[in-house]
Amino acid sequence: MVFIGREREIGWMRLYLEHEANKILAVTGKANCGKTALMQEVMKRLGATHTFFYLDLRLLDVSAPEDFVKVLLYLLRLARREQNFIRRLFNGSKFEFSVMGFKVSRDVKFEDVLQELYLALIEELKKVKTPVIVVDELQSLRELYYNGGKKLIDSVLEFFISITKHQHLAHVIVLTSDSTFYAELYSKSGMHERMKFYLLDELDRAEAMELICYYCEEYEVDIKPERIYRYTGGNPALIETVVSEAARLGFRKAVELKKGYLKDYIATYAEEKKLELKELEKLRKEEGQAWVDANVLFYNVETAEFEFQHRMMELAWNELLGES
Ligand SMILES: Nc1ncnc2c1ncn2[C@@H]1O[C@H](COP(=O)(O)OP(=O)(O)O)[C@@H](O)[C@H]1O
Ligand SMILES: [Mg+2]
Repeated sequence: MVFIGREREIGWMRLYLEHEANKILAVTGKANCGKTALMQEVMKRLGATHTFFYLDLRLLDVSAPEDFVKVLLYLLRLARREQNFIRRLFNGSKFEFSVMGFKVSRDVKFEDVLQELYLALIEELKKVKTPVIVVDELQSLRELYYNGGKKLIDSVLEFFISITKHQHLAHVIVLTSDSTFYAELYSKSGMHERMKFYLLDELDRAEAMELICYYCEEYEVDIKPERIYRYTGGNPALIETVVSEAARLGFRKAVELKKGYLKDYIATYAEEKKLELKELEKLRKEEGQAWVDANVLFYNVETAEFEFQHRMMELAWNELLGES
């Protein structure tokens, strides 16, 4: 897997991880800007000094509070590397639904199960060298409620605050592309004393050029990198798509295809939601939010402005705007 640049960001992460655990680190950035890749690289480089527990909530398919119990069990199993432990943990309790082969009873209160798991996890974290819990796609917990109205995300954040700010036991890094969710965390009262916020940009120009050149060589495409950059900006996934499609279809066609698809998507959504295309600066807050929900725009909490998800989206939007 190719990984380019990001030395500044890695350096910053390293400092955060060398410092005593004190705050949760919340990382956001546009979809496909490279949050997961950066995290993977950090884990690779610091693997000798830190013990990473990486959880991808989307991959683990967390769509109900009970699923999160599975996640915690998985985490415990990672920490313990011993199957019997979980068996012992729930031995004697009348667990009814089955997680990873263990029966969980519905008359056991959900928060008691959570509490039990949190405590067990704390014990395990104490045993390993500089533990770091990384939760990717944290927004998966956003809409999950238990006991008729308690937010699972609040319980999880409380736990994370406890092991960082209060116990200095482990670092916790959470990642999300969901800028609405991130903005909620950002503006939650008291959160800035408990969380560090980090907005990851796309690749800068030099890094993007390097990646473009890498893929051009890989796919044997002979086009000036500058020309490609104009359509992709620093979005690494878009760079890969455009170059690989250019190898198949030719550059012009590859760009038209991708842009055409995005234009259709935007136009259809606008029609469905009765939205009018405007210049970004002229969008009202609710309109902007609707486009964020559609993954067309990204809300930047630091500047309090809407931005396009990527360069090609901007081109598609502007073309539609020009045609209307
Ligand atoms: N620094 C980088 N160098 C090369 N490829 C990258 C880099 N960052 C991201 N990518 C690639 O871009 C794609 C999207 O990155 P990813 O980390 O999944 O984005 P995110 O987690 O922000 O949605 C992946 O295929 C990834 O391998
Ligand atoms: Mg990711």
